[in-house]
Amino acid sequence: MSDNLPSTVETIADALVDELSANDNLVVPIANGEPPHLLDALEARASSLTGVRVHQMHALRDRPYIRGEYRGQLEHVSWFLSYVTRPAYRAGQCSFSPANFSEVPQFLSVLEPAAVLAAASPPDQNGFFSLGVCADYSAALIGKTPFILEVNPNMPQTHGRNRVHRSQVKDWFEAESDLIEVAAKDPSPVDLAIAQQVADRIPDGATIQLGIGAIPGAVAQLLRDHADLGVHTELLSDPIIDLVEAGAVTGLRKRHRRGEIVTTFALGSKQLYDFCHDNAFVRFHPVDEVNDPRKIGQEPAFVSINSTLQVDLFGQCASETIGTNYYSGSGGQADFARGAQYSDGGHGFVVMRSTAKNGTVSKIVSELDPGAVVTTPKNTVDKIVTEFGVAELEGRTLEQRAKALIAIAAPAHRDELLRAARRRNLIRT
Ligand code: COA
Repeated sequence: MSDNLPSTVETIADALVDELSANDNLVVPIANGEPPHLLDALEARASSLTGVRVHQMHALRDRPYIRGEYRGQLEHVSWFLSYVTRPAYRAGQCSFSPANFSEVPQFLSVLEPAAVLAAASPPDQNGFFSLGVCADYSAALIGKTPFILEVNPNMPQTHGRNRVHRSQVKDWFEAESDLIEVAAKDPSPVDLAIAQQVADRIPDGATIQLGIGAIPGAVAQLLRDHADLGVHTELLSDPIIDLVEAGAVTGLRKRHRRGEIVTTFALGSKQLYDFCHDNAFVRFHPVDEVNDPRKIGQEPAFVSINSTLQVDLFGQCASETIGTNYYSGSGGQADFARGAQYSDGGHGFVVMRSTAKNGTVSKIVSELDPGAVVTTPKNTVDKIVTEFGVAELEGRTLEQRAKALIAIAAPAHRDELLRAARRRNLIRT
């Protein structure tokens, strides 16, 4: 245990390198939870390490070790690919572990990580650091794994189960860095047409989860006149701020954490990070709690809204691959789809434009591309939404599913899909 006083990054990195054994595992929180100066210092000492693996979701800083420059010494294992790790994974420079986000803490615990290396906000008057815009899998390891913190004055001090007392921290140091901002994509008219159909089906008092991408954000824009919405979401993003400002979010009809927004990480603009700072309305909780489908399912009228890349005529959603190419990860898509399925009056929306590549490629296909993986399976999928309508799949026969999906495919691709469905005996009329 430390003497609770801050150390320096150099001292901490030297000690860490001395303590690490060959093939040890380290954990770094998602996205802005990364401690940049500490990873710089670790990379500078990589030649003293053997087979140490750093586990992280959605890394946002391009680093030599992610690009395989210290292979056999210090290596990256991504649990969700980002614009930084996607090319590195494709080039064989880092590894990838597939998992539902809710289960990542459990899988990381099994690895018995040597330490969690995390960014944190300065301690409060009671000596508690917060993990800032993160709770994710790392907060689930508090009390189980030693924590080394990089305390950044720009990291918001947040509320929730993402707080560590100074006495629980192995070591800490202070260093300033900017949080990375990720701009929300502006929705196109097509995105808004898709979003409108979802918004029309969300009742007042619903609890919502918004996934990554332009269309879930567009749904939020259309909910400003709703009343008493609750937010229980893995990712907290900018569109939620407007909903709060508009008075649409009170959380008063939620069963759990009534009157609070629950999330496991925030990613967006500086305005979002400022919104999170000392805001007791927003609670950051570990992902094994936030994304637990059984808990989600206890909320009445739970609505999940996530995107996908390709859907076959059974309704299987390939949301993390384009053919054999890994694009992102499962994240919490299946967690929330399952939770919405359990919820009384719940809806699980999977949203997508009907086509990609300027209309040349239908995202609704007879069979998934060879090598594609299923993120939301056919037995869990509920409603698929394109600009041409909503296909209601839950509890439907394969023939009903195929017909509903062809009806919301782009018109230019419908005949071919119908022929394929008949060839496969999916549609018999
Ligand atoms: N065939 C070929 N290319 C396709 C395609 C298809 N069927 N579908 C999409 N693409 C291309 C797009 O053209 C785009 O290419 P570009 O970057 O060159 O423009 C790219 O793939 C990404 O597609 P887009 O629709 O813009 O992605 P998005 O940013 O809206 O994200 C997901 C969509 C599915 C990748 C993202 O939501 C995801 O990773 N989901 C899984 C995790 C999840 O849902 N977690 C839940 C809570 S956060």
